[in-house]
Amino acid sequence: MNDANTVLIVDDDPAHRTMLRTLLTGWGHTVSEADDGAGAIAMVHEQAFDLILMDIRMIKVSGLEALGEIKTFNPAIPVIIMTAYSSVETAVEAMKNGAYDYLTKPLDFDELRLTMERAMEHSHLREENRLLRESLGTHFDTHNIIGASPAMIRLMETVAQVATSEATVLITGESGTGKEMIAGAIHFNSLRKDGPFIKINCAAITETLLESELFGHEKGAFTGAYRRKEGRFRQAHGGTLFLDEVSEMSLAMQVKLLRVLQEREITRVGGEEVVKVDVRIIAATNKDLMAEIRAGRFRDDLYYRLNVVAIAMPPLRERREDIPLLAQHFLEQFSEKNRKQIKGFTPQAMDRLLRYEWPGNVRELMNAVERAVVLAWAEYLSEQEFPLIIRETGPADGWPEGDSGTGEMPLGEVEKTTILRTLELSNGNKSEAARRLGITRRTLHKKLKAYGVMPS
Ligand SMILES: Nc1ncnc2c1ncn2[C@@H]1O[C@H](COP(=O)(O)OP(=O)(O)OP(=O)(O)O)[C@@H](O)[C@H]1O
Ligand SMILES: [Mg+2]
Repeated sequence: MNDANTVLIVDDDPAHRTMLRTLLTGWGHTVSEADDGAGAIAMVHEQAFDLILMDIRMIKVSGLEALGEIKTFNPAIPVIIMTAYSSVETAVEAMKNGAYDYLTKPLDFDELRLTMERAMEHSHLREENRLLRESLGTHFDTHNIIGASPAMIRLMETVAQVATSEATVLITGESGTGKEMIAGAIHFNSLRKDGPFIKINCAAITETLLESELFGHEKGAFTGAYRRKEGRFRQAHGGTLFLDEVSEMSLAMQVKLLRVLQEREITRVGGEEVVKVDVRIIAATNKDLMAEIRAGRFRDDLYYRLNVVAIAMPPLRERREDIPLLAQHFLEQFSEKNRKQIKGFTPQAMDRLLRYEWPGNVRELMNAVERAVVLAWAEYLSEQEFPLIIRETGPADGWPEGDSGTGEMPLGEVEKTTILRTLELSNGNKSEAARRLGITRRTLHKKLKAYGVMPS
């Protein structure tokens, strides 16, 4: 959570604005000012604010009107209303219209500071969850978990079963197999789904920071800790904490984590107070934890705490049936994103995708399809759009050598390969391919439909 924030002060009284600016700048915030509601609306359209502090009674556009506009434009910005005692009713009205809270003038500075802190904490968490849910809506929702292979069906059954339990889950698997996606699916299908889903990548943070990230710190716990900060455990209270790359934690941190998992309570760095946390843990790793244990890098007691339910993500090369489904899913997704009208893959391109080893698993497939969609301009993605995969999968099978070489293929196959080859050489331009083949565009369409290259 950021300690310094961008705050917009809206007040038509210049003296009051100056006072607030001095105060808030002193607290470390960056401050902008507007002298009426219209100005505030304009500024909100131009710049992102973490918080708005607004007088409700202004002469031109009133605070109440401005509030409505601001909330329509960005419902996530917390707005704190300032009001005189005489207009508390208007303030209540403002609360109904989405204001976070109201303060009466003259302001009590401690109250102001606390209200601002609470508002921002609240909105950061809400924003984080909203973004997450949005991304889950498009990629991570169970409906968007693609897979029909026996391995994926078994996996989804396990996910459905464990989701409703409170069990700690350890997800293992190679990079790009969908560990994070599954963690999200478990949370959003659990009883905690309306609580926060908080994620932390243990590999991305240095050891000293990791402790304060996880457990929070007290004001003055170390240089730069000028106010108390809650950690991820506390943020995940009532929800799920996803510990990604858990094998990268130092042995010392592993001891601390183990204690928290046993006691379900934390102590902030530099503090004494014991804080209860109600958090479900999902951990993930792409390492072999048993090997890490043997090498003395991972504690076996922590392993058994985490590995209550184990979910092993199968690599993509062991469930090749899923490749066409995933490829088509990403094709649709990226066609839409890039405003292209790409319909599918040529059989040769799909054959390449099926034969490739996919060391980077689903993520690599997704990236390959995205790149192909961006580059392509024909209706069907052909081999040319997957140069890296062509290199890895070797020379094409079943292609005639040169334009007329036919080897010993049945005539129908010769025709099909020639037509598809010509289409590729024409960069997918059907009129051009028909011209080169000496047939009409209609005949070409009929053939392509028969090969299943075009929808009938
Ligand atoms: N079965 C699937 N259906 C749809 N999308 C998937 C599937 N599996 C993975 N993805 C997508 O592939 C990408 C990689 O998945 P994810 O980040 O969950 O993998 P990961 O195992 O956590 O990888 P890493 O170890 O590299 O962090 C994501 O964008 C995810 O949405
Ligand atoms: Mg991941």
